[in-house]
Amino acid sequence: MPPADNVMEKLVSLAKRRGFVFQSSEIYGGLGSVWDYGPLGVELKKNIKERWWRSMVHEREDIEGLDAAILMHPKVWEASGHVAGFTDPLVDCKQCKNRFRADDPRIKGTPGTPEAQCPVCGSRGTLTAPRLFNLMFKTFMGPVEEAAAVVYLRPETAQGIYVNYLNVLQASRQKVPFGIAQIGKAFRNEITPGNFIFRTREFEQMEMQFFVKPGTDQEWFDFWKAQRMQWVQALGLKAEKLRFHQHGKDELAHYAKDAYDIEYEFPFGWQEFEGIHNRTDFDLSRHQQASNKKLEYVDTSTNERFVPYIIETSAGADRTTLVVMVDAYSEEEVAGEKRVVMRFHPALAPLKAAVFPLVNKDGMPELSRRIYDGVRRHFNVFYDDGGSIGRRYRRQDEAGTPYGITIDGQSTQDQTVTVRDRDTLLQDRIAADQLVEYLKKKIGE
Ligand code: GAP
Repeated sequence: MPPADNVMEKLVSLAKRRGFVFQSSEIYGGLGSVWDYGPLGVELKKNIKERWWRSMVHEREDIEGLDAAILMHPKVWEASGHVAGFTDPLVDCKQCKNRFRADDPRIKGTPGTPEAQCPVCGSRGTLTAPRLFNLMFKTFMGPVEEAAAVVYLRPETAQGIYVNYLNVLQASRQKVPFGIAQIGKAFRNEITPGNFIFRTREFEQMEMQFFVKPGTDQEWFDFWKAQRMQWVQALGLKAEKLRFHQHGKDELAHYAKDAYDIEYEFPFGWQEFEGIHNRTDFDLSRHQQASNKKLEYVDTSTNERFVPYIIETSAGADRTTLVVMVDAYSEEEVAGEKRVVMRFHPALAPLKAAVFPLVNKDGMPELSRRIYDGVRRHFNVFYDDGGSIGRRYRRQDEAGTPYGITIDGQSTQDQTVTVRDRDTLLQDRIAADQLVEYLKKKIGE
């Protein structure tokens, strides 16, 4: 494998070349830390989101789905603590006009003092004292740009769940403990975004809020911590690249009593891509107070009333996609030739198979088309008749397509095809009418 710092560069370049991820508005020079998903990327991310939804909503009786709007009443963000507390301390250099987080390790000295040195232009005494900068994007609702009309682009999807907790409870007739899950966009005006789709200004979250009786929160916290690690492992990631990190007192968010990150060892170090948080009754109590609406739960069997505690599992869909891409990236030599291969778990791979007529004559294209039409009713498959078969295999290796179906001279005689395995490079010859069953078994869906 290439050196770690090189892997990200290679991945960004492969992502663009093969249509996983493009820079937003590239023809205008790009928009900082905003990315678009191309034909393969949208499939990969969708497969991850669908897998999450299936395991968190469809496979559980005690979790309901929700799709709340991005724009919410501005009071939501006052009650949640985001208006006052969702901030990073910022430092400006008066000389070169660059902006840094106050805790940027490259800054020498204390910002705001004469000896502090700018890490970009090297000037001394030009860094301002830290000022708090709110990470929420603001916009205006209605035609009047005045303070009263300010709304925020949500910085997390969680609040849409809290304000709908009673609606869902009543509509679904669930009983505590139960959960609400949601996948949706979130926005943060990050000061130090970067590392490709790791930290961006627009991203998607996959969040689940589990409402429990106070006193049972530790038990549920442990349960969800274990569940989420299991789910992540089942994505086929390398076990040695995964670990938990418990938040120290200084790291805990304003709402959390306890929190664990699931971390992955990226080429740029160990970093979080999912968090499991014990948010206590902080959120519902704050919304109850601010809205003047009772958000208590009444246990009808005991007549007990309480504001539920919340155990949250919060994952980034884009960041999980990056984990899957980094983990899948591999370079190797096959028969003296270098190949780059994305070893995606077959269930996550954007394309499940590619269909290749060995040559474009002798009835092979016609048979290939028929086979392609049959298989694509079941899976996302690709038809490729351009270039040598070796080149076509390489292209699909880079796309992470687990199976290559080749239609050759024998196929037109006996209606069999060869299926090449992306990872082992072994080929099976099977009857064309068995292909769908064969792939279903292999892909495990
Ligand atoms: N509701 C809790 C919450 O939002 P968080 O730790 O701020 O917690 C949860 O975010 C997850 O969302 C992170 O683990 C990460 O995967 C993703 N995430 C957060 N900020 C992000 C950003 N700027 N770009 C991409 N993903 C981000």
